[in-house]
Amino acid sequence: MIEIAPSILSADFSKLGEEIRAVEKGGAGVLHVDVMDGKFVPNITIGLPVVKSLAKIAKIPIDCHLMIEEPSRYAVQFVEAGASMVSVHVEADVHLHRTLTAIREAGGKAGIAINPATPLISLEEALPFADFILIMSVNPGFGGQKFIQTALDKVKKLKWMISERNLSTKIEIDGGIDVDNISQVVEAGAEILVAGSAVYGKNDPAKAVADLIEAASVWV
Ligand code: DX5
Ligand code: ZN
Repeated sequence: MIEIAPSILSADFSKLGEEIRAVEKGGAGVLHVDVMDGKFVPNITIGLPVVKSLAKIAKIPIDCHLMIEEPSRYAVQFVEAGASMVSVHVEADVHLHRTLTAIREAGGKAGIAINPATPLISLEEALPFADFILIMSVNPGFGGQKFIQTALDKVKKLKWMISERNLSTKIEIDGGIDVDNISQVVEAGAEILVAGSAVYGKNDPAKAVADLIEAASVWV
């Protein structure tokens, strides 16, 4: 099943409630929340109190993408704040198995995020402990960047690694997704499709989500 996950990073922060309603109306399956600490990535965004408020109004599951150092210090708190999915970067966590297990024990879906230049082999042993893998198709830190084409092969390779192990791990992709390339990422094997500027950069975010679903559905 394909799900569009609008990233509120590109939304108008002064009216987040309305912005969320709009994408829900358009058929979004997940709400992607980018948490940045100004250290792991050169930008600071949203923290726990905002997630707590969003969880009160969002009807769709909240997916927190932690672009922070030492994510094990905060991952469970994001689940407690109302996130259904929490991903931590493989580059930022030296005890990945422990963090993923803690997220699951807290009742969340545990994800591993991986940067464009990090090889998949670095998460191989952790695969059975993750519910989803977030393949970055831009260098994390900002919305509106250009899709890095090599991410397509990475998704295909990961899909193969997952099926070879008989796992049901989902593949999420994040960065530079739009109506022109979304069918390619779906064809490669991605199921959760993050889109920031392709949704909130448009005049009508509800329609933008519906357009992405339509463009993605070529392969389903
Ligand atoms: C980038 C973030 C993305 C970003 C995507 O660091 O992880 O979720 O919001 O934005 P677009 O779709 O504009 O590339
Ligand atoms: Zn993200």
